[in-house]
Amino acid sequence: MLELDAFGAFSKLKTPFYYYDTALLRRTADFVAAEAARYGITVHYAVKANSSGKIIREFVSRGFGADCVSGAEVLLADSCGVPAEKIFFAGVGKSDAEISDALRIGIGAFNCESLQEMEVIDDMAAGLGVKARVALRINPDVDAHTHRYITTGLSENKFGIYSHEFDRAIELLKTSERLEFVGLQFHIGSQITDIENVIRAECGKINGITEHFESRGLLVRSIDLGGGLGVDYEDPDGNPVPDFTAWFRTIGECLRRRPDQIVHVEPGRAMVAQCGTLVSRVLFVKCGKTRNFLVLDAGMNDLIRPALYGAYHKIENLSAYYERGSDVRDCAYDVVGPVCESSDVFGEHRILRRSYRGDLIAIRSAGAYGSAMSSRYNLRPPAPDVFSDEIVNFANL
Ligand SMILES: Cc1ncc(COP(=O)(O)O)c(C=O)c1O
Repeated sequence: MLELDAFGAFSKLKTPFYYYDTALLRRTADFVAAEAARYGITVHYAVKANSSGKIIREFVSRGFGADCVSGAEVLLADSCGVPAEKIFFAGVGKSDAEISDALRIGIGAFNCESLQEMEVIDDMAAGLGVKARVALRINPDVDAHTHRYITTGLSENKFGIYSHEFDRAIELLKTSERLEFVGLQFHIGSQITDIENVIRAECGKINGITEHFESRGLLVRSIDLGGGLGVDYEDPDGNPVPDFTAWFRTIGECLRRRPDQIVHVEPGRAMVAQCGTLVSRVLFVKCGKTRNFLVLDAGMNDLIRPALYGAYHKIENLSAYYERGSDVRDCAYDVVGPVCESSDVFGEHRILRRSYRGDLIAIRSAGAYGSAMSSRYNLRPPAPDVFSDEIVNFANL
């Protein structure tokens, strides 16, 4: 159950809102910083997971860089104080305006995803009279054993440069006067839980590909393994901090690296998922012949992962637990939102304490790809972010 020192303040807030446990966020960040230092790994936070300025600044203060996938993310990272050389810009479709902004800022590297993109960056850098640092995003053809919508490292995927294009990419890098090659980047997918096997396979492929580039005269100064570390959606209280140690240790054991080679990772989900909760109220309890529905005031526009991926989020009735502790009868509910789509479902047949109109409901592990993927569908206003260390400021929302 979500621990709630602030339950009093909670019940005064207008729902839905995203609640972030700042202490857990900091504990996770401190742990990642310590473990990364132990294994000689550099961390770039994947801003796409949650683009709250407060969260980014927590990471900046621990020396993490930023992995960005749009021009707006690059500008946000810059404005939050991420040093330009620690901002990396990935994505299969960078627009001219986005490339131009990033060149002007002087970011650490463009993670190039196609030969054509390399040519465009080369031309634009020439036009601006600057150099562009580039890393090549390589598609390593490794199965991340995760949902097909969040697998990105298979050869038939749209992401990265394919192996049959390596020699042309190498030629371009050797002949360009504007492109400065910094290294190779990989990202095979998200919510990876089979760390040992998947990361071992990824490192095996990376070792071979790095050797290929170096044997053709390109020095691979940095190797970026992407993000992907999974979190425990079933038991957020049992496993609030994901297993960064196993991830870094496996990389340390399996990746062949020279002492002067920089090794990066770009975690998003694992940094922020467990500290976030979507808090909502029950609008109505509908009892059908075979199913009971809890209709919440949060919908798929606030948290789309269940509708998009069939993703599981633990759901808890906070009011039943904290206010009606003695009534412990359980009931099965389909927990749904108010949006006019039948896919607006947070969970089917969930066993919860008996629930009533007005109860506060917590949808856990929602810190990553929650508010970041939210929309205004049905003209619904965005759920605000509320941080535990600032909760009193929100009590009159
Ligand atoms: C290139 C890249 N790096 C990092 C990430 C972050 O992944 P995760 O949130 O699973 O750690 C993603 C997510 O899709 C990505 O596409």
